[in-house]
Amino acid sequence: MLISGRGSNLQSLIEAAGSYRIILVISNIEGAAGLDKARAAGIATQVVPHAGKTREAFDGELDAALRAAGAELVVLAGFMRILSDGFVRGWEGRLINIHPSLLPAYRGTRVHERVIEAKEALSGASVHFVVQELDAGPVIAQANVPVHADDTPQTLADRVLAVEHKLYPEALTLLACDKVKLQNGLAVFDSTNNGHPAANR
Ligand code: GRF
Repeated sequence: MLISGRGSNLQSLIEAAGSYRIILVISNIEGAAGLDKARAAGIATQVVPHAGKTREAFDGELDAALRAAGAELVVLAGFMRILSDGFVRGWEGRLINIHPSLLPAYRGTRVHERVIEAKEALSGASVHFVVQELDAGPVIAQANVPVHADDTPQTLADRVLAVEHKLYPEALTLLACDKVKLQNGLAVFDSTNNGHPAANR
């Protein structure tokens, strides 16, 4: 797993582990609170600072650490670096991210501010395969939340985060159990699955 911050999604993934096992948590930020959550759960951690390195050199270090640990999937959870094309290609179909909007709407940053400014009635979270274009990969699972008239970016972020904590373990479980695959640029679900997990709930 790759993180940069508090690691609340990491915590929910730790608690729901079973169909998958978290073997390594890497942060580019030394003091990231998520590292303590990983250590408390007995998971190996590593800090790979990005400062003073080219994107390719930094990503090369991440890649080497992940491969040395025997990682099969790479899970981004609040990882605040854009990954190079080479890294994304190297982990194609095995690299996922969670984004706090109903993709393809509101890619990028300042999501909650923009959702409120646009007076949207609904927002939510999406787990998606990572492709080279930022926040543009095929969606594996989504969950929605209402946007209230008196929401601030913080109250909306809190409501979205609460659904992220259920959504991410579900989506990772699907991937770890081969119930979803990236095929020809699409998220393809195992037809023996009951229902379509990407549908909003
Ligand atoms: C989450 O809102 C996630 O959607 C976004 O970054 C935030 C990470 O939070 N990509 P945390 O570090 O998992 O608490």
